[in-house]
Amino acid sequence: MKEVKINFKLNDRDYKLTVPTNTTLLQIIRDQLGLTGTKEGCGKGECGACTVLFNSVIVTSCLVLAPQVDGAEVLTIEGIGTLQNPHPIQKAFVEEGAVQCGFCTPGFVVSAYSLLSKNSHPTEEEIREGLSGNLCRCTGYIKIIKAVKKASKEMQ
Ligand code: FES
Ligand code: FES
Repeated sequence: MKEVKINFKLNDRDYKLTVPTNTTLLQIIRDQLGLTGTKEGCGKGECGACTVLFNSVIVTSCLVLAPQVDGAEVLTIEGIGTLQNPHPIQKAFVEEGAVQCGFCTPGFVVSAYSLLSKNSHPTEEEIREGLSGNLCRCTGYIKIIKAVKKASKEMQ
């Protein structure tokens, strides 16, 4: 298998790796770098569990290949908040009961983070649109939407 050298920034840290060209960004994040907050659901760009920010744009990292990562800036859930210092979006998810099994949660938080970075007062319709690439099979979405509304108020 052909390999590629990549230099990129992840959560404000510089990385240099050599990986097979068909490695996905999701595999780099989880398997090479051990950051397991980003989840693999479908592996086909459909569920949003693997959502990260890539050059400030939300992407499904299972569909980004290693050569595209060279020179990029990536932000994962680990770069948004920690257990000790959670981001207001993460706090709101907990407070509103928007987390059940939690598998989808990092992807939703990254999408909500992207939305609120661009639009600090989203309408419910804008929140639904901003989260439309993420699937949750536990919560029924209502509490997730409430959590994003709450976070948007607390971040003002
Ligand atoms: S794992 Fe990437 S979209 Fe489902
Ligand atoms: S909380 Fe289980 S899939 Fe969303």
